[in-house]
Amino acid sequence: MSERLTKNAARNIFFGGTIFFLVIFIALVANSVFYATGASSHHSEITPSIALGKRVWERNACIDCHTILGEGAYFAPELGNVWARYGGFDDPQGAREGIIGWIKNQPTGIEGRRQMPHFNLSDKELNGLVDFFEWTNKINTQHWPPNDAG
Ligand code: HEC
Repeated sequence: MSERLTKNAARNIFFGGTIFFLVIFIALVANSVFYATGASSHHSEITPSIALGKRVWERNACIDCHTILGEGAYFAPELGNVWARYGGFDDPQGAREGIIGWIKNQPTGIEGRRQMPHFNLSDKELNGLVDFFEWTNKINTQHWPPNDAG
């Protein structure tokens, strides 16, 4: 018997290996999708105000400067954890007022500091944004970002 790999054996390894890893790949994709849409976030808790906040976020292109969960531009702070940074888990009302106050008072005009433009947002829109930030902050990101600054 020859020690060399026959064409038949090579073909079987190729097809067998391809199918084996394809099955693993599909299983991992399915696992990621179920985790992302099920266990890690809480879809059923999305209120009209959270949805409004997301639309305000998109319409005003906040992502042109900010990141949210790492996605976006790196000019301004990460906002996926801004709710926690403002102490929202201990004092929700204080965090809400703090974030809304910040947005209303831009630009600061402080020399040498990056500026955020002024957005003419209604109270409903501002509260929606805060609700959207709070919801986003509660997504289980498996401890990402690793520090408060994002
Ligand atoms: C042109 C760029 C730009 C855009 C667009 C922008 N921001 Fe900002 N934003 C900034 C900068 C720069 C800072 C930080 C400024 C500073 O620290 O003085 C900031 C800070 C913030 C903060 C405070 C973050 C913290 O940790 O203190 C919040 C909240 C915020 N932005 C929300 C928004 C929202 C909501 C939008 C969209 C409606 C938006 N930003 C659009 C540039 C921008």
